[in-house]
Amino acid sequence: MTKTFAVIGDPIDHSLSPNIHNSAFRELDLDCTYIAYKIPKNELSYGLDALKKIKISGFNVTIPHKIDIMKFLDGTDEDSKLIGASNTVTNQNGVLTGYNTDMQGFLDPIIQRELDIKNSNILLYGAGGAARAIIVAFAKQNAKKITIVNRTIEKGKELEELGKKLGLNSEIISLENFEGNKNKYDFVINSTSIGMKNEIFPISQDLIDENSVVYDIVYKPINTDLIKKGKNVNATIIYGYEMLLGQAVRSFEIWMDKKAPYSAMKKAILGGFS
Ligand code: ATR
Repeated sequence: MTKTFAVIGDPIDHSLSPNIHNSAFRELDLDCTYIAYKIPKNELSYGLDALKKIKISGFNVTIPHKIDIMKFLDGTDEDSKLIGASNTVTNQNGVLTGYNTDMQGFLDPIIQRELDIKNSNILLYGAGGAARAIIVAFAKQNAKKITIVNRTIEKGKELEELGKKLGLNSEIISLENFEGNKNKYDFVINSTSIGMKNEIFPISQDLIDENSVVYDIVYKPINTDLIKKGKNVNATIIYGYEMLLGQAVRSFEIWMDKKAPYSAMKKAILGGFS
């Protein structure tokens, strides 16, 4: 029987995950298919019931469900527990197990470029599920300090607590209080959906220079406002599709228990922009 996989989230129309995973299935001649399934914020329980009914083999989880999904899982890996969020789920006869492939997916392009995280000064915009994976990644790599800016202060505070718990010097600043900040940051990261609709990134270009790394987890459009700001000052750029590829490769390997066809998956992502 054909195995079915999915990505759940909202918005989901823009998702490249179906292209990536279906290309991988084709490359290895696997009898599997992958669909995008829109589940609005308050309909997660109902949506999961529907997925169980069609005997979904596994699924990815994206905005806004990465944290909420934890309540519905029967078990999780260590990274999900530490991060408090899952982005990859397996289904074995109705038993759901969560994994987090975001943290390694986020780190992959930093490691590939041999960039130094140790002692770095980081500005992180956002405080959702992806932000939690990112803060754990930086804590594990011994960053010096992380400054969190988020629309909802309470959620930012939770992230600040998580960072501190892991021994990372962390602070939360509101967007209003952040204006006029004159620091330069080694890393400026967007972990929100801002940019998907070509919004202006609400943080000044003056905070980065040619020694900074600018990393946007939004992958469509490729050139978000933050990426453009990074290019204006000749910063090192890391594109959202790079994290997407890293987490997708790991999700595939969890579901299939075999090595993912990296080149075919990368080609599928880049083809998705043409
Ligand atoms: P995920 O778990 O997939 O990361 P999430 O938990 O909904 O998704 O987190 C999304 C992040 O993007 C949050 O930091 C959210 O800010 P709030 O904590 O204030 O909700 C941020 N975000 C989403 N849309 C935004 C917008 N239009 N302006 C500012 N921040 C936004």
